[in-house]
Amino acid sequence: MAVVAALLLACAALLLLLALGALSLPGASDGAGPRGAGLARPRPRARFRRSATDSGLEVRGEKGEPWTEVLSWEPRAFVYHNFLSKEECDYLISLAKPHMKKSTVVDSATGGSKDSRVRTSSGMFLRRGQDKIIRTIEKRIADYTFIPVEHGEGLQVLHYEVGQKYEPHFDYFHDDYNTKNGGQRIATLLMYLSDVEDGGETVFPSAPVNSSSSPFYNELSECAKNGLSVKPKMGDALLFWSMKPDGSLDPTSLHGGCPVIKGNKWSSTKWMRVHEYKI
Ligand SMILES: *[C@@H]1O[C@H](CO)[C@@H](O)[C@H](O)[C@H]1NC(C)=O
Repeated sequence: MAVVAALLLACAALLLLLALGALSLPGASDGAGPRGAGLARPRPRARFRRSATDSGLEVRGEKGEPWTEVLSWEPRAFVYHNFLSKEECDYLISLAKPHMKKSTVVDSATGGSKDSRVRTSSGMFLRRGQDKIIRTIEKRIADYTFIPVEHGEGLQVLHYEVGQKYEPHFDYFHDDYNTKNGGQRIATLLMYLSDVEDGGETVFPSAPVNSSSSPFYNELSECAKNGLSVKPKMGDALLFWSMKPDGSLDPTSLHGGCPVIKGNKWSSTKWMRVHEYKI
């Protein structure tokens, strides 16, 4: 008898807590996860939070609360706000700074790299898994994108000074040479390591919508107003897919880096492949 009474009391207490909202059932809130929430609400600028206890969120230093913004479904693009801490951004810059070289583009005839006027930044590649902090960041990228670490190329760190830009291009390859190791590039994660005073936005000029409904439209450069744009903010990351869910290449993934007008821009790119990418 006493056992039954105790059980009833426990049930009543549980119901009371649920009613007060002190406990929440899984799936009852927007903590249901990015895929579920995103599919249920396919409208622009949908927000959802990620629990700080999710795996891969171990960070070095302070950062704001991470949350995901659905930027667009054409191209499939998401902004992970507060993806990196300031310390992590500074660390990536400090690793790359002594080794910056003028950026090249892939030569589709030879598969090698060549100098180009469409890309005027400077950059360098880090080795995948090269130290503990890089491994932590790469693990976080894998956890957010659902693409295993082994499918990623080494991080590239880029620096753009005033006037420097990257003309709109695709990240997928048009040649057989570059797809031998790892296959086609399926997705790109672009991390902003610095704030940029003016310009330097990432723009998708072939997206069917532009950023005119965005609250910061008036702060965008002319280049960025020509498409769907993301304003660089230190610690934020932009994920976009070059490949559609049916395996075809997505022409709306055309993207460029607008010229920096004031200040300078540091960013880091992770390209991810269909298959394991051997290093
Ligand atoms: C952006 O889109 C709006 C609404 O579709 C359109 O009126 C405007 O001309 C576009 N702006 C640019 C710069 O393409």
